[in-house]
Amino acid sequence: MIDKIEAIKQEIEQFNIDSEETLEEFRLRFLSRKGKIQAMFGMMGDVPNEQKAAVGKAMNEVKNLAQSTFDQAKEELASAQKKTFGALDDISLPVEPAYTGSFHPLTQALNQIKEIFLRLGFNIADGPELEDDFHNFTALNFPKDHPARDMQDTFFVRKSDDENTDDLVLRTHTSPVQIRLMKEQAPPVRSIMPGRVYRNEAVTAKSYFQFNQVEGLYVDEKVTLGELIETLVMFSKLMYGSDVKYRVRPSFFPFTEPSMEMDIWWENEKGGQWLEILGAGMVDPNVFEAVGIDPEKYTGYAFGMGVDRIAMLRYGIDDIRLLYDNDIRFLQQFES
Ligand code: DAH
Repeated sequence: MIDKIEAIKQEIEQFNIDSEETLEEFRLRFLSRKGKIQAMFGMMGDVPNEQKAAVGKAMNEVKNLAQSTFDQAKEELASAQKKTFGALDDISLPVEPAYTGSFHPLTQALNQIKEIFLRLGFNIADGPELEDDFHNFTALNFPKDHPARDMQDTFFVRKSDDENTDDLVLRTHTSPVQIRLMKEQAPPVRSIMPGRVYRNEAVTAKSYFQFNQVEGLYVDEKVTLGELIETLVMFSKLMYGSDVKYRVRPSFFPFTEPSMEMDIWWENEKGGQWLEILGAGMVDPNVFEAVGIDPEKYTGYAFGMGVDRIAMLRYGIDDIRLLYDNDIRFLQQFES
């Protein structure tokens, strides 16, 4: 009898519990009503009286071993399962959303402008932010000492008294890219030129020392003012919706003749107001001459718009400085 008990004991010790299934197998084999422990106690009747005490003790030990083996294995399985889920008990709980970043409102506005002009047949060109006086002013028909140069609040990087050395400036507008483009490429030219520009202005909610423009240029034979206006109207409709209210006013720029500005009507709580969104005009023949294009053969139109203004209108931003602070609380509002 003692041998049989010893055999069960060994069987228990060698049983490998590594899953819910083997745990249940163990329970059935040893602990259930039809299991080996119960059967073992059933043989107590065959044990001679003088051995009953010793055999009973051995049986109880085996029974306790089976029970504690079972309990311990069950606990280990449960805690191993917890570990695979980490500290979470309920894996169906929603997770904290992580901020994955988003496009800056200026980038979003710029992307939309680019998309519209790509659809209208323009390609994209760019030029340097550090410009010389020739490209930023002279070739654009700003005569030396012309008051229009003062209006541009220029940041000078190098001022030169030597006639052969040009002044260097942070470009005050994207129009110099027109000059670079026309010097490099014979007509037809049909490009937009996005970029950052700089002006030495007092920083306020409405003005900043840097901002972004998109320049446009179309040069070919027989380009007309009518085409310019039609293109700008098309742009406004695609940008602001087909019911946009717009107007075109005469203006002045040294590099275009005639020159004009376009306003759009901006509705707000106080009723609304006209806001200037761009300057434009027909390329002045003096500009063509500066880049070696024959003004008798070619005509062209040009325009320049402010991206910051467009983004501010679009998103109801009333302080331009917000666009350059990179405050995450501000930027998170423009997830697209
Ligand atoms: N360069 C002008 C500015 O900075 C904007 C502009 C006006 C660009 C008329 C043009 C244009 O190309 O034709 O205010």
